[in-house]
This record gives sequence, structure tokens and C-alpha cells, in this order.
Amino acid sequence: MSNVSIKTLKEVEGLRAAGQMAAETLIAVGEILRPGMTTEDINTFVHEDTVRRGGWPAPLNYHGFPKSVCTSVNDVVCHGIPGPRVLEPGDIINVDVTTIYNGFYGDTSATFYIGKPSNEAKHVTEVSRRCLELGIAQVREGARLGDIGAAIQEFAEGEGCSVVRAFVGHGIGRQFHEPPQVSHVGKRGQGMRLRAGMVFTIEPMINLGGYEVEILDDKWTVLTADRSLSAQFEHQIVVTKNGCEVLTRRSRKLPNSEIFGDVFSIAAAAGTP
Ligand code: MF3
Ligand code: CO
Ligand code: CO
Repeated sequence: MSNVSIKTLKEVEGLRAAGQMAAETLIAVGEILRPGMTTEDINTFVHEDTVRRGGWPAPLNYHGFPKSVCTSVNDVVCHGIPGPRVLEPGDIINVDVTTIYNGFYGDTSATFYIGKPSNEAKHVTEVSRRCLELGIAQVREGARLGDIGAAIQEFAEGEGCSVVRAFVGHGIGRQFHEPPQVSHVGKRGQGMRLRAGMVFTIEPMINLGGYEVEILDDKWTVLTADRSLSAQFEHQIVVTKNGCEVLTRRSRKLPNSEIFGDVFSIAAAAGTP
């Protein structure tokens, strides 16, 4: 027997409302990003935007986390703490927004481009974006957790990247982190069977170099051990009979992130306009 809760329709409604609120804040963040601003500026914006919408930023004081959002630049894998770091042209930054609304959590993140990226920055970012899409495409009642991890791992490694093991997706509801743990590596046909009404995040962290990570003395900031670039995207989904609903689906394209189109489509590979 599994300890993963099946959400009621009412609970899914609450999680959808929280997810949509987090998604709107993430879009709004994308609009304001520019070189010269600090990650503290992003924190101030996310805090105020979240409160203005009637929500509360879940990261603030979560297990002692000191800020309202995670901002993870370049070789920072996740859990970057906003501060005086100035964004420079060529940087990539993951902004991870989690909103509490009416007691429900909405958790979503994306990697953004500050100015024009290097080929390496673009590659790791677009690979991680595709990894999330491929993971989501595995989800339906009866599929296995391992199907998600396998789809992500096969694609990332085929693109010469690696998948972080030390941090995983998670169930979510009236609590930030619930069972199950959603590994972004795995084997098809293995792991827990998915059931309609399960709600969890998929949030692959993809590195240009090795998958090993290091945690800074601040106890939060996670870095790639080899200081290679890392990128991440996160959605929160509810499993349905025939697939899933993305509770953090966006109402429009993400500014400063969804700017290259589908770089992995056959047409793009062939160089067709
Ligand atoms: N939002 C992160 C996640 O996707 C968790 C951040 S915990 C914090 O699970 F304390 F660093 F905010
Ligand atoms: Co999450
Ligand atoms: Co998150």
C-alpha cells in the first residue's frame, strides 16, 4: 500500500488555483529580468507580486530558508539564495516560485536567459526544458514513476548532459513536500504505479558536466561539483486516466526563456525555416 494521497476534486481545484498563481508570478518575473539587476531585486519582486495576488511565498522561513524565492545562477543547481549578485549578460538563472494560496501549494520554476546565451548555456537550458516535457508526456494512470525518470535520463544523456540525482520532484498538496519522491533518472516499468488524483512535481536539474553536486556553507546553495552550467524547469501535475493536467500551465509564453522555439524538432534539426 502506498502513502501517496489521492486528491479530491476540491483539493485539485485548490491546487490548480495555487498553481496558476505561481505560474502568473513566474511569467511576471520573466518580464522584469535584465542585466544589472540583483537576485535580491527578484526576491523583492516575487514577494510583492505573490502578496498582491493574495498568496504567500512558501520558501520564506521554510526549514530556515531566508528568502521568498530561489534564484539559481549558472553553476548553481537549485536553492540559490537571493542577494547582492548582479545578473550579467550571458547568465542563465532558474527562478523557482512556490505560492501558498488558500492553504494549497503551487510550485513551478523556469530557467531564463539574461541577454544572449553562449551555445553551452542555450544547450543545457533547452535540454532541461525538453526533459520536463518528456517526463510529463509519460504521466497517466497505470504508468510507473520509473517511466518518467527513464524518459528524462535517456534524452539528457543522449544530449551529452547529466541528470542530478541528489534532488527530486515531490508530491505536493497542503504541504510543500509530500510523498512520492519523483526521481529524474530511472528504468521503464519500475517504481510506483501512478493513479488518477496523485499530484506531484517534475523538476529535472540538468548539468552540462557531471551530475555530482556540492552544498555551500550557507547550507542551501547547491552547486555542480565540477562548476559546469546547470538548468532546471518545474511543473506541478495531477495524474488523470489518460494523461495529466499541468496545474502550473502558463497562460502565455515565458519572456526571456521561450525565445528559441522548438530547437529539438526534426524541422529545426534539418535547418528548415
Ligand atoms: N521550490 C523548491 C522545490 O521545487 C523547494 C525550495 S525549498 C526552499 O521543491 F526552502 F529552498 F525554498
Ligand atoms: Co518542487
Ligand atoms: Co520549486
